Amino acid sequence: MTPRRAAAGNGQASRPWIDGLITSGLPRDHFPAEGADPDTVCDVLTEELLLDGNSKQNLATFCQTWESPQVHRLMDLAIDKNLIDKDEYPQTTEIEQRCIALLADLWHAPGQPTGCSTVGSSEAAMLGGMAAKWRWRARQKAAGKPTDQPNMVCGSVQICWKKFARYWDIEMREVEMKPGRLCLEPEDVLAQVDDNTIFVVPTLGVTYHGLYEDVAGIAAALDGLQQKTGLDVPIHVDAASGGFVAPFTDPDHAAWDFRLPRVKSINASGHKFGLAPLGVGWVLWREPADLPDDLVFHVSYLGGDMPTFQINFSRPAGQVIAQYFDFVRLGRAGYTTIHEESHAVARWCAGEIGGLDGFEIVHDGDPKRGIPTVVWTLDEGAAKPYTLYDLADRLRMRGWQVPAYPFTGELAGNAFQRILVKRDFNREMADLLLRDIRQAVAYLEARPAGQGGAAAQGGYSHL
Ligand SMILES: Cc1ncc(COP(=O)(O)O)c(C=O)c1O
Repeated sequence: MTPRRAAAGNGQASRPWIDGLITSGLPRDHFPAEGADPDTVCDVLTEELLLDGNSKQNLATFCQTWESPQVHRLMDLAIDKNLIDKDEYPQTTEIEQRCIALLADLWHAPGQPTGCSTVGSSEAAMLGGMAAKWRWRARQKAAGKPTDQPNMVCGSVQICWKKFARYWDIEMREVEMKPGRLCLEPEDVLAQVDDNTIFVVPTLGVTYHGLYEDVAGIAAALDGLQQKTGLDVPIHVDAASGGFVAPFTDPDHAAWDFRLPRVKSINASGHKFGLAPLGVGWVLWREPADLPDDLVFHVSYLGGDMPTFQINFSRPAGQVIAQYFDFVRLGRAGYTTIHEESHAVARWCAGEIGGLDGFEIVHDGDPKRGIPTVVWTLDEGAAKPYTLYDLADRLRMRGWQVPAYPFTGELAGNAFQRILVKRDFNREMADLLLRDIRQAVAYLEARPAGQGGAAAQGGYSHL
């Protein structure tokens, strides 16, 4: 019997207040003995969730905050489908395989499409990293060399790689930033790699500033090293954001994908610039030989065999179906239009923010250099009576989430600020943000000394 019926059965009208939720609030620390009227619970929860703020103003996140009505329909249709049940939902399995084949085409995989969907780039990074560790270990064993000190070489990576290194016992050789050197450079890589390097991980769209690292340059440097020393170090590209941007908005970009034979695996987030709803990522290998067989589990599938490689078992299927919808609905032309618009809005914002006294643009959203994001700092000589943490705080009062955060290495003491320009951050929204930035800056400039004080570093920056 539903709670609403139970209440009506007691001879009382089903009115929200009979549940007491309105006057006494929702249970917080005890599992409730009785149920409650579902509409009332839903209303009260809806109101509570208003405190989360408005995702459209969340310019910190790389993830999509807009989905089409059709995607809502498809998600609803799939709400009870478990992606792992390959036998029960063979058509969903087929759709997942089609997505992998389409991505293999987009990223120029030479042979049989090999990959899987994941919860996001973090799980994809774990899987790409595990495959690299397994391949390295097999190579070392075959050569009679030790296998107890694996390392990886990277620039300033997103936290998922730090997790990967810690969880899988890998020494992380992270080349941090210096003034004028924000990305991992080929010579840095050469200085760090050795026999124990399981892979090098350049990022296409670094989380801190959105810039593309020079995958082709790094691959060429490693080619040279191999010619000289015989050492063959593979590359995994973290294309969490850029994998769904560069192929569309800068198709002539120097090869960064499987066109480079040294690139053995790539991850990307479907829910970022892949435009799918939250909860889907992808990892692809160059060819089946790059995914060691002993990492793959085989499940029976319509009497056949379906290889699976993932950390989770149960997972919702809707995101994968919605991803396929986006691929088919938009095609290359649609992704190009949407992302070009985001770059145009980013460049508009960069022009305006760069025009503010003392503001220095680090990335202006140029599609040749990186993803559609704008990153800025305060000119060292500007001696402002406020910090970017104060500005972030002030913008928060208008609902905008524009994180301020430090870079790494020699730039760990400097504050930077970033907006991610996504599909629903249009020119109208941009102009409203810019107005609020100007007003906040004017307020902070005029604030009498001693009032307010510098805001502390805090909040969530998705690093
Ligand atoms: C470069 C990079 N890699 C990995 C991740 C983690 O991605 P996800 O949130 O899809 O797990 C992010 C997230 O922002 C990222 O920017």
